[in-house]
Amino acid sequence: MTKKWIALLASAAAGLLFSAAALASGGGNVQQAGNDLSDRASLQRGAKLYMNYCSGCHSLKFLRYSRMADDLGLTEEEVMSNLNFTGAKFGEQIQVTMRNADGAEWFGKMPPDLSLISRVRGSDWIYTYLKSFYLDESRPLGWNNQLFPNVSMPNPLWELQGPQHAEFGEPDATGARHPERLLVTTPGRQSAADFDQTVRDITNFLEYAGEPAALKRAGAGRVGDPVPGVAEFMAYLLKQEYWSDVH
Ligand code: HEC
Repeated sequence: MTKKWIALLASAAAGLLFSAAALASGGGNVQQAGNDLSDRASLQRGAKLYMNYCSGCHSLKFLRYSRMADDLGLTEEEVMSNLNFTGAKFGEQIQVTMRNADGAEWFGKMPPDLSLISRVRGSDWIYTYLKSFYLDESRPLGWNNQLFPNVSMPNPLWELQGPQHAEFGEPDATGARHPERLLVTTPGRQSAADFDQTVRDITNFLEYAGEPAALKRAGAGRVGDPVPGVAEFMAYLLKQEYWSDVH
């Protein structure tokens, strides 16, 4: 490998780290997910929760139903009757039926594919994000998020968690007030501890979903690729950056 190449790769890697760090920052502190990839029961619960609460909007394009069945120890029958709501075949990828145009109309953008989200944001970020929604009448869909201010995603888990209200701090230099504390005022269907476990299971499943994709791309990648899938990952980050400018 030439020196020029090494320099190029090093700067690409630094760029990656930088973008990931920039993306990871937001309002509020990140909490620890404490998820465990070797906990199969948690992954199975996470898959079920994902299919019920997330898959209507978010695809997992790098994951096939059959692969998920194998990895999570589920039968074809279990997956096809309990975890597949799109009529896709067992060997197909997890896609959404929502059209791009509808996504744009309803949310201002198509909800992103989540195959690589755990590698971009990290599991702790996802865990915290899902716990950080609060009611905000000034937002188009009535929801805001402490970690991802002015997010366009409505809270999919509010019935389980119970709706949260924000307590705001003093105005900052620009006069804006940011949420300081979130409180569940009307209890949801789950206790706080059970809800934490629910979110941990979803996070665990998303962390898993990022891994088979890596293995798959490593197998298909060119010989000599320094990091498997680095090009896809960069493209993904660029797209994220692009969207954050469009906001
Ligand atoms: C009703 C549609 C809808 C549902 C259901 C939904 N989301 Fe989203 N989600 C969105 C939209 C739209 C965005 C883009 C938000 C933005 O960029 O402002 C988003 C963004 C996200 C992001 C942040 C992506 C990024 O840019 O970093 C994560 C993580 C996420 N969703 C996870 C989930 C999970 C997990 C579930 C299920 C528990 C879920 N979503 C359910 C619509 C949805």
